[in-house]
Amino acid sequence: MPTRAAWSSRLGFILAAAGSAIGLGNIWRFPYIVGHHGGGAFLAVYLLFLLLIGLPVFVAEVLIGRTTQLNPAGAFRKLGGPSWSRGGELTIFTGFVVSAFYSVVAGWILGYLVEAFRGEISLLTTHHAAVTHFNGLLGHPFWALFYHALFMVITAVILYRGVRRGIEKANRILVPLLFIVLLLLLVHGLRQPGSERGLWFLVIPDWSALTPAALVTALGHAFFTLSLGQGTMVTYGSYLKGGENLLKVCLIPAVMDTIVSLVAALVVFTIVFGAGQEPNGGPGLLFHTIPTVFSQAPGGEWLAILFFLLVLLAAVTSEISALEPSIAYLMDRWQWRRHSAVLLASSGAFLLGVPSALASSLLSGVTYSGMNILDITSTIASDCLIPLGGLAAVLLVGWRWGTHSSLTALRCGAEGQFRAHPWLAAYFWFCFKISAPFLILIVLMDALGVFR
Ligand code: PHE
Repeated sequence: MPTRAAWSSRLGFILAAAGSAIGLGNIWRFPYIVGHHGGGAFLAVYLLFLLLIGLPVFVAEVLIGRTTQLNPAGAFRKLGGPSWSRGGELTIFTGFVVSAFYSVVAGWILGYLVEAFRGEISLLTTHHAAVTHFNGLLGHPFWALFYHALFMVITAVILYRGVRRGIEKANRILVPLLFIVLLLLLVHGLRQPGSERGLWFLVIPDWSALTPAALVTALGHAFFTLSLGQGTMVTYGSYLKGGENLLKVCLIPAVMDTIVSLVAALVVFTIVFGAGQEPNGGPGLLFHTIPTVFSQAPGGEWLAILFFLLVLLAAVTSEISALEPSIAYLMDRWQWRRHSAVLLASSGAFLLGVPSALASSLLSGVTYSGMNILDITSTIASDCLIPLGGLAAVLLVGWRWGTHSSLTALRCGAEGQFRAHPWLAAYFWFCFKISAPFLILIVLMDALGVFR
C-alpha cells in the first residue's frame, strides 16, 4: 500500500487550514449576517461561540485526524467502534454537499471577476442597474453553469496534484496573496470619508437585534467559517505527523480566520458607508452594493478586480478542503487511486450543484417558503448537517473516546503549554464534555423548531 500523504511542514498545515477556514463565509456571508443581526451585539455572541464551541471542536477534529491518520469515516470507527463510522460518513457527505453549492456561488464570483476585467462593473452606476445586471446573469442558465463548471475544474486540478504538490502548494501561494489584497482594500476603505460609520456599525451593539434566530446563525457560522462538521479538519489533521503541537497549529488558523472576518466586514462597511450607502443586509451586498460603489470610485475598475480576486482566492482554498474528505475516503476505504478519486468526487459535486446553479433560471419555480434550491441546500447544510457533524465529532471525543484519553492525546506535543497553563486542561475538558455538545444540541433543536 502506498504511504499516506503528509504535509511537508507545520506551516503547510497552518496555511492549508487557514485557507480552508477563510472563504466565502468570511467575505461574502459574515458582513451581511453581522449587518442583518445588529452589528456589535452579534459580533460579541459570535466571538463567545468561537471560544466555547468553535475552537474546541476545531481542536477535537484535528486531534481525531492526527491520532488515527485516517479519513473521517475510518477515524470515527477506529476511535468509537463500527457504529461510529456512520458519524464520519455523515461529515464526509456534508462536505460533499457544501462543495456542490459552494462552487455555484464561487462561480458567480469568478464570473464577476471576468465582468470586472471586461470593464462591465464600472457601468453599474445605480443600484437598479446592479440588480438588473446580476439578475440578468443569473437568469442565464448557461452563465451560472459555465462558471460553476470552470470553478470545479480549477479545484479538481489542484486536488489532482496531491496533498503536498497540490493542496499545500496552492495554499502557500494563495493565502499570503489573499492577505495582501485584503490589506490593500482595507487601506482604501479606511481612507474613505465617512468610513468611521462603518467601524461604529461593527462595534456598537444593538442588543434588540439579537433574536434566537441570530443565535442559530452565529453558531452555524462559527462552524461554517472554521470548516467544521464536514470532515475537513479531521482529514487535514490526518496529514499531520504524530507529535505536532495541536494547540499552536489550531490556534493560528482560527485566529487568522477571525481576523479576516473582522477585516472583511470592516472593508465592506467602510466602503459602503463611505459611499453614503447602507449595508442592505443580504447576499446582495457583494453583487449589488459593492459594484455600485466601485463604479463611482476613482480607480473603481481596479478595485473591483482586486475585490473579486480576493473573494475568488478565498473560495478556491476552501473548496478544495470541502472535497478532500471524500477523496481521502475513497482512497483509504476503497483503495482508489488519487486521480480516480478526484475525478469522481469533483464530477459528482459538479452534478449535485447543477440544480443550485439553475435555481435562479430554469428551476426558479421550485421554491419552499420563499427559498430557491440553492437557499434550501445551503440552509440545510449550514443549519442542520454541519452542527450535526460537529456534534458527532465532539461527542466522540468528549464521551465515547473519553476526556481522559483524548486529553492525554492532546497533551502529546503540547506538554509545555499544558504544564505552564494548568487551566488549559480544565478548559478543554469543559468544552469537550459540556459546553460544546450541549450548546450545539440546543441550537440544533432550535433550528429544527423544537422550541417553537
Ligand atoms: N470555511 C469556509 C468558509 O468560511 C467554508 C467551508 C466549508 C470550507 C466547508 C470547507 C469546507 O467559507
